[in-house]
Amino acid sequence: MVKEYIVTVDGKPAGRVVGRERLGEIAPLVAEESEVFVVYDANAAEVAAEVIEAVPGVRGSIAIETSEEDKSMDTVLLIERSLLEAGASRKALVLAVGGGITTDLAGFAASIYKRGVRYANVPTTLLAQVDAAVGGKTGVNFEDYKNMLGVIVQPVFTFVCADALRTLPRRDLLSGAAELLKTFIIENEDDHYGRAVRWLAEGGAAAELQELALAAAGVKAAIVSRDPFEAGERRKLNLGHTFAHAIEHEALRRGDDITHGEAVAMGIVLAARLSDALGVSAGLEARLAADFAAAGLPTRAPYPVETLAGAMDKDKKAEGSLVHFVLAERIGSVLIRDLTVAQALKALTL
Ligand SMILES: NC(=O)c1ccc[n+]([C@@H]2O[C@H](COP(=O)([O-])OP(=O)(O)OC[C@H]3O[C@@H](n4cnc5c(N)ncnc54)[C@H](O)[C@@H]3O)[C@@H](O)[C@H]2O)c1
Repeated sequence: MVKEYIVTVDGKPAGRVVGRERLGEIAPLVAEESEVFVVYDANAAEVAAEVIEAVPGVRGSIAIETSEEDKSMDTVLLIERSLLEAGASRKALVLAVGGGITTDLAGFAASIYKRGVRYANVPTTLLAQVDAAVGGKTGVNFEDYKNMLGVIVQPVFTFVCADALRTLPRRDLLSGAAELLKTFIIENEDDHYGRAVRWLAEGGAAAELQELALAAAGVKAAIVSRDPFEAGERRKLNLGHTFAHAIEHEALRRGDDITHGEAVAMGIVLAARLSDALGVSAGLEARLAADFAAAGLPTRAPYPVETLAGAMDKDKKAEGSLVHFVLAERIGSVLIRDLTVAQALKALTL
């Protein structure tokens, strides 16, 4: 079983994604560190306590709140202040223990402290294990825009451990499941997609989920290594996200409670519908909708596509009037097609 992937930037190793079954196995990864500062999600305090116990060089820790409102410069400054007060030098390693909000915040805080210290991630949500904590995108929300301020800096390592998910609520697990399935729709070695659907539908051992999460993190690591700054191939990882962002935007406007993963699941099904409509695939929407439903994920956006199209026009990933739509030919193969929102809408409503 593969236990490690390397992220490279310009062909040079820049970070590792490591899979281990127990939290205590983090110790060898930080054995050489003399100044570890832990930034952890208050909701993942139990996991953080175990990590802190296993890491001998911990010199300080700070618990943070992790709503999207807390994903702000204010929280970054809280982290900076705690690093300063604890006497962190340029040798410091900031260790983020939490979901994507925590890893995005801690990575960004580390990247500007004393002009940049290293950071590493112990993701405690499935979403962060397969997506947010891998690839080096960090940042905060600003002026109503998500992830508006930030930098791309690779973490020294991302520690993928099934144990870190043991207190995660089911709904948050499922939110990450959407990204897990998305990754395997992009690349489906060893039928990881089918195995993930079965695990989600029927349940299974934590170790198997960890193997799948690590494999998905590995797919992301490989794509990021080939395209660290999203000039081309990395856009594939946005499968379903153009629609998902529009769904989230509309949900926010109406005060509806839809998680990112739920929006991604609905968004992938819409992307499959668009793929079918454009003749890129055949019967993909029905197949994915059936699999997602079995996995416990929602499949139908509760808003009309016309409404979503309006929000999509404002998507920050759009260049000019063209949007990079990620379409799927089949499970394991996706492609990017530049279309205007009007062209996509026409295909979806024919
Ligand atoms: N950097 C990237 O490339 C990237 C990619 C995708 C998403 N993101 C960002 O990630 C964020 C979403 O990540 P997320 O879904 O992990 O959200 P999150 O960090 O908000 O975690 C989800 C919820 O689970 C709780 N939680 C976390 N770990 C727990 C544990 N072990 N036990 C109990 N509760 C726990 C959190 O407190 C929170 O309430 C968004 O802000 C998004 O922008 C970043």
